[in-house]
Amino acid sequence: MKILLLGKNGQVGWELQRSLAPLGEVIALDRHSSDFCGDLGQPERLAQTVADCRPDVIVNAAAHTAVDKAESEPELARRINAEAPAALAQAAARTGAWLVHYSTDYVFDGSGQEPWLEGDATGPLGVYGQTKLEGEQAIAASGCQHLIFRTSWVYAARGGNFAKTMLRLAQERERLTVIDDQWGAPTGADLIADVTAHAMRQALRDASVSGVYHLVAGGETSWHGYASHVIAQAQKLRPELNWAVKEIAPVPTTAFPTPAKRPSNSRLNTRKLQSQFALTLPHWQQGVDRLLSEIL
Ligand SMILES: NC(=O)c1ccc[n+]([C@@H]2O[C@H](COP(=O)([O-])OP(=O)(O)OC[C@H]3O[C@@H](n4cnc5c(N)ncnc54)[C@H](OP(=O)(O)O)[C@@H]3O)[C@@H](O)[C@H]2O)c1
Repeated sequence: MKILLLGKNGQVGWELQRSLAPLGEVIALDRHSSDFCGDLGQPERLAQTVADCRPDVIVNAAAHTAVDKAESEPELARRINAEAPAALAQAAARTGAWLVHYSTDYVFDGSGQEPWLEGDATGPLGVYGQTKLEGEQAIAASGCQHLIFRTSWVYAARGGNFAKTMLRLAQERERLTVIDDQWGAPTGADLIADVTAHAMRQALRDASVSGVYHLVAGGETSWHGYASHVIAQAQKLRPELNWAVKEIAPVPTTAFPTPAKRPSNSRLNTRKLQSQFALTLPHWQQGVDRLLSEIL
């Protein structure tokens, strides 16, 4: 089997390089790749990449993920998050390849407290969510066989992330303020990559699984709950470090004004994914504890 992976150096892309390796030949590209074009800023050239590589599966882990920056560069965000996936989907439809793609809780408006189902009405609050939704819609409209995984609050051992920022601040400051009115589930890029590989194997045997799935770790928390857990766990693992923090104060979203509005309710219901692919998604604390053991 031949797999074309785009966005190989992102959080999820990096983990996909590992999880997809046993499934076949992986051609992994980033925006600077020279043999084939892997730049999502040039959607017209991506079709040529697909034609030249002739993959059985295209996995697109690249995206314009800078949520606030997207507000001031909507055209670039749209090209990367909507037009490039559209071009990949059309190329996949022409060649009979599967397209695996990632989307986000930001396609929803964040109202209510119930975990969102795949079929619930969308209502993005900003450019990032809107362009990611347009990407989903273009893939569905192309008629290609696809798996779209909507995820949330992604972290990885590689690169910067919220948990690492909290660990640094907890050693620098006595008082931290963290948002406590946005709810979701921190989800490891390694979990997303492993589930992708598993689901892909099943999809190649059974085309009827084509569709949109919610993929997040089990349980739910707020950013404040996430930060509190990270710091308590880190203090247990490394009590000898210079922990300055004495208080982690919960604050509302309004305490940190940002160009892009964030959804309050980012809970995603994962029952469809778990039952379709016979998977159990571990509790978010399990993955976060593993991350901490790895990075501390
Ligand atoms: N991060 C989250 O919390 C989160 C939440 C929900 C959904 N998602 C979705 O999950 C997927 C994976 O996200 P992630 O967390 O792995 O994101 P990430 O770490 O920001 O990685 C995104 C990758 O896309 C690449 N990229 C950006 N512009 C590109 C272009 N023009 N051409 C080629 N590559 C380009 C980036 O490359 P450079 O490093 O060179 O810029 C980066 O390697 C995305 O679809 C995202 O929308 C993420």
